[in-house]
Amino acid sequence: MSVTVASVGVMTDQNAAQPSDLSDLSALDAGTVPLDPASTAALAAVGLTYRKVDVAGEDFDRFALAMDRGFLGQRGTPEQLEGFRGAMDGRRPIGVFDDAAVESGVPVATVDTWVEEVTVDVGRVLPMWAISGVTVSPTHRRRGIARAMLEGELRSAAAAGFPIAGLTVSEATIYGRYGFGQAATATSWSVDARRAGWIGPRPTEGERPGRIDPIEREHAREDVTALHDVVRRGRPGEIRAWANLWRFTVGLGAGQEGAAKVRAVRYTDADGVRRGVLVYEIENHPDDFTKNTLAVRSLIADGPEAYAALWRFALTHDLVATVKAELLSADEPLRWLIADTRAATVTERDHHWLRVLDVAACLEARTYRVPGAVTFVVSDPVGLTDGAWTLTIDEDGAGSVTAGEAGAGAGGHEVHLGIAELSALLVGGVRATTLRAAGRVECDGDAASWLDVALAPLAQPRLSVWY
Ligand SMILES: CC(C)(COP(=O)(O)OP(=O)(O)OC[C@H]1O[C@@H](n2cnc3c(N)ncnc32)[C@H](O)[C@@H]1OP(=O)(O)O)[C@@H](O)C(=O)NCCC(=O)NCCS
Repeated sequence: MSVTVASVGVMTDQNAAQPSDLSDLSALDAGTVPLDPASTAALAAVGLTYRKVDVAGEDFDRFALAMDRGFLGQRGTPEQLEGFRGAMDGRRPIGVFDDAAVESGVPVATVDTWVEEVTVDVGRVLPMWAISGVTVSPTHRRRGIARAMLEGELRSAAAAGFPIAGLTVSEATIYGRYGFGQAATATSWSVDARRAGWIGPRPTEGERPGRIDPIEREHAREDVTALHDVVRRGRPGEIRAWANLWRFTVGLGAGQEGAAKVRAVRYTDADGVRRGVLVYEIENHPDDFTKNTLAVRSLIADGPEAYAALWRFALTHDLVATVKAELLSADEPLRWLIADTRAATVTERDHHWLRVLDVAACLEARTYRVPGAVTFVVSDPVGLTDGAWTLTIDEDGAGSVTAGEAGAGAGGHEVHLGIAELSALLVGGVRATTLRAAGRVECDGDAASWLDVALAPLAQPRLSVWY
């Protein structure tokens, strides 16, 4: 079979409108979404109360305590607690309470949800139900509490009209069972800066040089906030993020440990336009003043010029022997900017897990590289998306979805898969041929090859933050 990439009019307009009925969801206060009745009843049947936490009072202090315990952290200071409380606008903290416990006011399980936007294609975002803070006390583990919370969150989000849910994880083994798929992998880099050798552009030199300036943390906060909001829309897998995350990124978090180490520089192009920001810290070598490590906290570049300028700044920094960075993409241009790629040690792991809740809304939100039709026959462990969904792609790369019998798309392909696999395929971070080779999707080879082309991402999926 021959696979042809049609000269489709690929949508790259970063201001592209999203479906009007979905766009309102992006601004929704998650606290207005009701708790799932089935999970509330299931937990009540075993003597547990599943309820929202009151952010204003001691209820929240106990929620925070339970979450700190759950993630094996230490008790937050009063300043940290107030910072956490102040960042809860629009959030939906939930606790599970054991009325028979010695301290029954402290939840034995927590979950924190809110509304995000996730980019599914260049210039295309969807409202997303973000799930975080999932903990179950070690005293109450493996009784199905996490399952009740996760399934409850997914049903609540789907009932409220959210097309997709997402999370980042402590362990890769936990969430596939609920239909989450690994949508964007992340790479961690450790570069021997002396060995690497810079072969890329030098935007701060030449006839029209840009410039790099040191900036204080408040400027850095403005920069990461503004630049991320532009860059994330062009990168499948990225999310909108929130103000308190950026405060911690630049060292302005309430009671933040290690904040004094955070420093930043801004890249401004020859026209005076702010194009990039690098937030980093220096880890001092105990014995040798020339062997310090520069640890990147955030590098956000609006275009290749700022990207090269900021990475060159980091890799040629005096008294720095090693540059470390995390949450880079699986296809990072940095590899092509250094002479000796073996100077970089790169490790890869799962990072952004997505979970399609509405197959039609998700598939219609992105664009495609080749016309045709495919019927996805989906199985869903939580029962939200089971069935046959036929995606028809027109000559312009737009997709439309109809629910119905397999084979409904005349001459189309047919693919049998779980919702986790469809969620992984959605933003193009994994190829259908790879999933087929792993036995994770069932279809013929032609269908998988066609899907590889149709779903090819315009930019390598990435998520540059934890949530
Ligand atoms: C992970 C955690 C939330 C699980 O809570 P739990 O109430 O014990 O989980 P449940 O009893 O509901 O288990 C549900 C299913 O998940 C499985 N599971 C639970 N924890 C797991 C883990 N860490 N790894 C793999 N599978 C796990 C159970 O075996 C069970 O499987 P099944 O129902 O498909 O047979 C809990 O162990 C915890 O708080 N861990 C520390 C904090 C953390 O890592 N949180 C996750 C943040 S992303």
